[in-house]
Amino acid sequence: KTIVKDIYKNKESFMNKEIELSGWIKKIRDSKNFGFIELNDGSFFKGIQIVFERNIIENYDEIAKLSIISSIIVEGKLVKSEGKGQDFEIKAKNIKVIQKADLEYPLQNKRHSFEFLREIAHLRPRTNTFSAVFRVRSLLAHAIHSFFQEKNFVYVHTPIITGSDCEGAGEMFRVTTFDLNNIPKNDKGEIDYKEDFFGKETNLTVSGQLNVETYCMAFRNVYTFGPTFRAENSNTARHAAEFWMIEPEMAFANLDLNMDVAEEMIKYVIKYLLENAKEEMEFFNKFIEKGLLDKLNNILNNEFSRVTYTEAIDILLNSKKEFDYKVEWGIDLQTEHERYLAEEYFKKPVFVIDYPKEIKAFYMKLNEDGKTVRAMDLLAPGIGEIIGGSQREDSLEILEKRMAENGLKEEDYKFYTDLRKYGSVPHSGFGLGFERMVMYVTGMSNIRDVIPFPRTPKNADY
Ligand code: 4AD
Ligand code: MG
Repeated sequence: KTIVKDIYKNKESFMNKEIELSGWIKKIRDSKNFGFIELNDGSFFKGIQIVFERNIIENYDEIAKLSIISSIIVEGKLVKSEGKGQDFEIKAKNIKVIQKADLEYPLQNKRHSFEFLREIAHLRPRTNTFSAVFRVRSLLAHAIHSFFQEKNFVYVHTPIITGSDCEGAGEMFRVTTFDLNNIPKNDKGEIDYKEDFFGKETNLTVSGQLNVETYCMAFRNVYTFGPTFRAENSNTARHAAEFWMIEPEMAFANLDLNMDVAEEMIKYVIKYLLENAKEEMEFFNKFIEKGLLDKLNNILNNEFSRVTYTEAIDILLNSKKEFDYKVEWGIDLQTEHERYLAEEYFKKPVFVIDYPKEIKAFYMKLNEDGKTVRAMDLLAPGIGEIIGGSQREDSLEILEKRMAENGLKEEDYKFYTDLRKYGSVPHSGFGLGFERMVMYVTGMSNIRDVIPFPRTPKNADY
C-alpha cells in the first residue's frame, strides 16, 4: 500500500500513476463543483492535498459535508499541482468514507494551548506540534541506538524492579503486594518483608547504572536505555516521575573519555535529526524556538566547555549577579547557577567536573584531594543539567568506606563490591535524560509535552 511518506520521498516514481491512500481529513473545503481535502495518513509530518470534483466523484455531496478527522480511502492519480502551497496533489476518482467523525471533535483547526492539549493527551499526537515532537522522539531513540551499536556497545536490559537505590536520594516508588491496611510487622515494629512478593523491600529503579556496570565488566562497552522512576516531589518543567534514561558504561575509561563520548553522542544524534527530520526541525525552528537550527548547527561546529566545580564556583562568585541561593564552595549547584554558567557565561553546553563528594553519589571515584569526586554534569543552555555521570570508584577499600559513610548495607551491594574484587578496572559512564534531550532538540519547554503520557506529582491520568 502506498503511504504519503513514500510519495514525498520519491514523487517522480508516483507521478501520473493511480494510487490508493487511506487516512484522516485534516482540512476540507468545497465550492459547488469541486473541493479540497488535506489528507493526513500518519506516515509523514505533512499531509497531501486531494482534489475532488462533482462530475467525477459519485458521492460528491456526502464527501463535501464530511467533518474533519473523518476517515476515508481515496483512489486517484498523483498530478502536478497548479495551486500554490504544494507541488503535487491527488486528483480523486473515488472516495470511500470509513467513518464520519463526530462533530464535537475537540481539535478544530485553530491553535490550542499546550495546557489544554495536555488534558487531551490521547488526541494531541494529531496536532502539528505533537506530531513533530513524537516523530522526533522516535527518531532520537533510534539515533541513540545507532550511535552505540556502531561503536560496538552491547545493549543491556536492566531491571525495572530493584532492591537498590543507586542515587542514594531516597526518592523511590515502593513495589509491594501487601494489603496496605494490613502490613506485617516484626516484634520491633518494623515492616516484615518476608511475606511480601519478593521477600524483601523493593522499588522501581531510579537508574540502571549499578546493574549495567556488572555487564560492563564482561562486555567492556555497554549501555542501557529504559524507563526510570523518581518520586521527587518537584513540580518543575524539567522533572517527571517517570522518564527514560540512556546509560552507557565503559571499561578502561577515565572521565576525559567519558566526556568525549557524551559530546560525540550529542553531536551524532543532532546531526541525525537535522538530516532525517528536516520537516519537523524546520517546524520547530519556525513555531517553537526561533533560531533553533542555528543553535543546533553551532553545537555541531564547536567544542563543549569543560570546567571544574571549583572553577565554576569562582565564576559564579565573580559574576556580580545576585543569586537567590548563596554561592559558596560545597553547595549543590541550583538551576539559577547552572543557567548562568551555560547561558550567560559559556553560552554553550559545559561539563562541570570534580564536585564535592558530599553532594554526589557513593559510587563516584574519589580524587586525590580526598574532597572531590570524578563527577561530570553536562549543563545545556535553556535546559540545565542534561547529563549526570562519573568515573566510578574502582578500589574495593575506598568503595567500602564510601558505602559505610553513606549508610549502605554491604549485603545489599555484594554484587557491586564483587566487581572491585574480580578484575577491577577504571570505568566510567553517564546518564542522559532522554526527555531533556528531546526538549533541547525541539525547543519544547515543558517535559510534559515531550512524553506521551507524562507522570508528574498528582498526575497519573491515562
Ligand atoms: O544525574 P542523575 O541522577 O544520574 C544518574 O542517575 C546516574 N546513575 C547516571 C549514570 O551515571 N549512569 O540522572 C541522569 C540524568 C540527569 O542529568 C537528567 O538529565 C535526567 O537524568 N533526570 C531527569 N529527567 C527528568 N525527570 C527527572 N526527575 C530526572 N532526574 C534526572
Ligand atoms: Mg544529576
